[in-house]
Amino acid sequence: MPAITSSAPGKIILCGEHAVVYGAPAIALPVFQVNTKTVVVAKPAAPEGELRIIAPCINLDSRLDSLDNDHPLKAASELVKQALGINRFQACEIRISTSIPIAAGLGSSASVTVSLSRALSAFHGHPLTDDAVNKIAFEVEKLHHGTPSGIDNTVITYQIPVYFIKDKPIEHLMIRKGFILVIADSGTASLTAKTVAGVRERWLADKERYDALFMEIADLSREIKDVLLKDDLTGNANLLTRNHDLLKNLGVSTPKLDDLVNTALDAGAYGAKLSGGGGGGNIIALVNESQADTVARRLEDRGATQTIITSIPSAWVN
Ligand code: PMV
Repeated sequence: MPAITSSAPGKIILCGEHAVVYGAPAIALPVFQVNTKTVVVAKPAAPEGELRIIAPCINLDSRLDSLDNDHPLKAASELVKQALGINRFQACEIRISTSIPIAAGLGSSASVTVSLSRALSAFHGHPLTDDAVNKIAFEVEKLHHGTPSGIDNTVITYQIPVYFIKDKPIEHLMIRKGFILVIADSGTASLTAKTVAGVRERWLADKERYDALFMEIADLSREIKDVLLKDDLTGNANLLTRNHDLLKNLGVSTPKLDDLVNTALDAGAYGAKLSGGGGGGNIIALVNESQADTVARRLEDRGATQTIITSIPSAWVN
């Protein structure tokens, strides 16, 4: 049997993170320059049901049945088994590699689950539908994040720009005019579960203040959606910077992230913000084509460990 390969992209959140957990809309975009690849190879000589899973990115080389049940890779595999309606897998070796930095707000956990679910189901002759993969990835995100909104698994499964509201049908966001983002990694890993729990704690202590911040972020996301549908985000990129200020008020930025945002703006970016859970991870900066390299270089000079220049294409359907 030939090897089966499946890959899944990374993602950024353009606006609305954290508030999205409380029902506000958010916008997320797939990022194809980084991805996760899963390769499944049959091991006919191994006992039936034996799976070896190798994931150098998390220093893992183990038999699947040796992993704890709440290990995300074990949980994802079990959910694939249930979705396929089988009792055991065919013996195989699974190799997972990713170029997405871990715990950096670029969707590494959802990307791994999506690519694993697709590869493992295809290997068994029944590739799962996007909806089934998305459900599995959402369940596994709960192990990573506690109370995820579902935005990461959605954008990574369907690989389209999404205007996302928790528990609502997926909305494919049509972008009238494409734009360019510089994504810059602060180099500080940060667990989304921790920043989400921190926001929850502060919200419980002062619901009035935090609900007001969530509402302001929701308004911004709606405004940004309108701009993307009808106009050019470049001329309205201050909306992104305003979102960053609100994220600061939520307590999820850091001096390093603020510094990178300011560096991007000083270097000529139209707008900039942290993206994802915060506490570390990445910022995004909206730039024009001629500025992109300069902004990326200035961010690296200022300590960004990696920069990615990504072009978000227009996708308009009349
Ligand atoms: O996985 P991250 O770090 O991009 O965070 C996802 C966005 C949050 O709003 C912070 C959490 C969520 O589940 O929506």
